Amino acid sequence: MHPDAVADPSATAGAGAMIGADAHLGEDVRIAPYAVVDARTTVGARSIVGPHAVLHHDVTLGNGVLVGAHAVIHPGTIVGDDTVVGDHAVIGKPPRLRAGSAAASSDPLDPLRIGAGATVGAGAVILTGSTIGDGSIVGDQAFVRERTTVGVGSVVGRGSTIDCDVTVGDRVSIQTDVYVTARSVIEDDVFLGPGVHTTNDDRMARPPLDADGRPDHTALIDALAGATIRRGARIGGRAVLVPGVEIGADAFVAAGAVVTKDVAPATRVMGVPAREAGEVPAEDRLRD
Ligand SMILES: CC(C)(COP(=O)(O)OP(=O)(O)OC[C@H]1O[C@@H](n2cnc3c(N)ncnc32)[C@H](O)[C@@H]1OP(=O)(O)O)[C@@H](O)C(=O)NCCC(=O)NCCS
Repeated sequence: MHPDAVADPSATAGAGAMIGADAHLGEDVRIAPYAVVDARTTVGARSIVGPHAVLHHDVTLGNGVLVGAHAVIHPGTIVGDDTVVGDHAVIGKPPRLRAGSAAASSDPLDPLRIGAGATVGAGAVILTGSTIGDGSIVGDQAFVRERTTVGVGSVVGRGSTIDCDVTVGDRVSIQTDVYVTARSVIEDDVFLGPGVHTTNDDRMARPPLDADGRPDHTALIDALAGATIRRGARIGGRAVLVPGVEIGADAFVAAGAVVTKDVAPATRVMGVPAREAGEVPAEDRLRD
């Protein structure tokens, strides 16, 4: 323990644990053997940090947080009360982008914020600059990229990927192995079945040519268009949404459909390409 660390007398740290300068351990905190709590990091009362976990500098854990074995929490990350961070999860990770990446931005990224009562599954990876709302679950091995917001009480299923610059609302259910592409908007109470894939680039990374016949990378990036899925819409397993489509509120997309056009609110579509197949019955629509 660094001489400038501050620990409540009831806090304990196992063999080989390292507590950095100006770190703060609250009441009844337990730091397992070989865990690292780096400089200026705060661990709230009753929190448990598992063996070999690494809490980098300037992390804030609320009260009653459980951090699993080998989890890594990157600098500046803020974790709310009673949240669970699973074994081998990596949270607050900075992105590493190739030169010219469409995800690049000159604005610095805010720290990752995870709300209270949330769950981060084993092996999940969440990048910095994002927010996960109270009570939401990011499942085992799921991946959430930078500048993405997940609302309150939502689920990102096992192995699903939410790309950068996505907004996911409240009470959204994203099942296993879903891909939500960059610049998508998923409103409250949406359901995405297993293996749903959204897309955002009709040119598949091949830039158009400018007036001088040179590849125009800016035009390519400007043209990226994610999905917009309005409140209460439901998308069946393995459906594919081509770039820029809007699925109306309470619409229903059948399993395996390829959606090539906007879908009107409360409309059912199915097939490849998806065709209208009636209305969603009134009793199946969301009530306020
Ligand atoms: C759309 C769905 C609900 C079936 O609807 P349904 O009205 O009961 O359809 P029926 O079984 O009566 O079939 C009606 C016709 O549509 C066809 N059909 C049914 N589901 C279809 C689908 N997903 N895609 C294309 N055609 C489909 C049927 O073959 C049938 O065609 P036919 O009249 O030429 O024989 C079902 O296919 C579906 O997509 N469910 C969603 C499941 C899901 O992904 N859940 C996610 C969580 S696990």
